[in-house]
Amino acid sequence: MNLLLIGGTSFLGRHTATDALRRGWTVTTFNRGRSGPDVEGVEALRGDRASDDDLAALAGRSFDVVVDTCGFVPAVVGRSVRVLAGSGAHYVFVSSISATTTWPGAPTPDGLDGQECRSDAGPDDGDYGKLKAGCERAVTEEFGDRSTIVRAGLILGPHENVGRLPWWLERISRGGEVLAPGDPATPMQLVDARDLAHFMLGAGADRVTGTFNATGPRGNASMGSWLGDAVTATGSGARLTWVADDFLVERSVESWTELPLWMPPGEDGDHVWDAETAAAERAGMRSRPLTETVADTWDWMQQGGRPPERPPHAHAPRNGIDPAKEQRILAEWHARPG
Ligand SMILES: NC(=O)c1ccc[n+]([C@@H]2O[C@H](COP(=O)([O-])OP(=O)(O)OC[C@H]3O[C@@H](n4cnc5c(N)ncnc54)[C@H](OP(=O)(O)O)[C@@H]3O)[C@@H](O)[C@H]2O)c1
Repeated sequence: MNLLLIGGTSFLGRHTATDALRRGWTVTTFNRGRSGPDVEGVEALRGDRASDDDLAALAGRSFDVVVDTCGFVPAVVGRSVRVLAGSGAHYVFVSSISATTTWPGAPTPDGLDGQECRSDAGPDDGDYGKLKAGCERAVTEEFGDRSTIVRAGLILGPHENVGRLPWWLERISRGGEVLAPGDPATPMQLVDARDLAHFMLGAGADRVTGTFNATGPRGNASMGSWLGDAVTATGSGARLTWVADDFLVERSVESWTELPLWMPPGEDGDHVWDAETAAAERAGMRSRPLTETVADTWDWMQQGGRPPERPPHAHAPRNGIDPAKEQRILAEWHARPG
């Protein structure tokens, strides 16, 4: 198999390249050379996907599978799909559950339409989720049933470039009393980048058509289980103190970013971990236990792995609560009346 990976040097793309090489595939990557070194063994082409001149390097080439990990603007994705239309490839596009009309306010069943967004929309024509839906359309308009749309859930694992799990692992490794948000029993739904990469390559090779919610099964971890895994992995002896959601909201702790992966119940928090995954599972999606993801991410950090200083995409926030604020909230929690 001959794979073109648009991206390939940071997180999900690295795992995709590594998995493909392990299968004996020939791998070509196309990126600007800014986000990290290419995986050893690939043919690395340099270029900006927003430039038709740079994309000319791909014109006239044949591929069996394209995996596109870095499409955020429909008009830009349109350029690559036009250049690759005659390549003979099956096009696997990495989208997001945010592209759907329901997430995170309601459950996300399989087979939902994406949000309204033109396939030639520009960067200012919508937010991250809406633009991802436009990118999906740009792919399917050109590739039709020769495409797989992979709506990823929240991705963790070694090389994570947003810095969510790495922030928690770093905090927990420092030990002491750690502010743990909300209810430890809160069911979550997370996916390991290596499992997602495996699914995408299988879907590309088998030319699986359609749009999939691609994440772990509902409830494959809870806030308490993976934070506990982090305490075990780091061996720090940190003590988790569970502080109620309302208490944190009243103190203006920003969900999702100050305490990564924490979303309190309410308008946006009730269905954030509530996507149907049956279609992806039928198409080959398999998820390892999150305990392994946490341990392997800590191993990667022990070898010097760190998320980049700057977030990889404009939509990716900086993570982490100020240590003084964390300690102040813990003191207030212990001093609360009753
Ligand atoms: N993280 C999550 O929890 C989450 C959840 C849902 C969906 N997703 C989606 O999953 C994907 C994650 O991607 P990743 O960062 O892990 O993939 P990656 O392939 O490991 O890294 C991104 C690649 O894109 C390349 N790139 C960026 N802009 C480019 C441009 N203009 N032209 C050419 N290459 C460009 C980067 O290289 P250069 O910078 O060197 O060009 C880098 O190689 C994204 O599409 C994201 O929306 C993520």
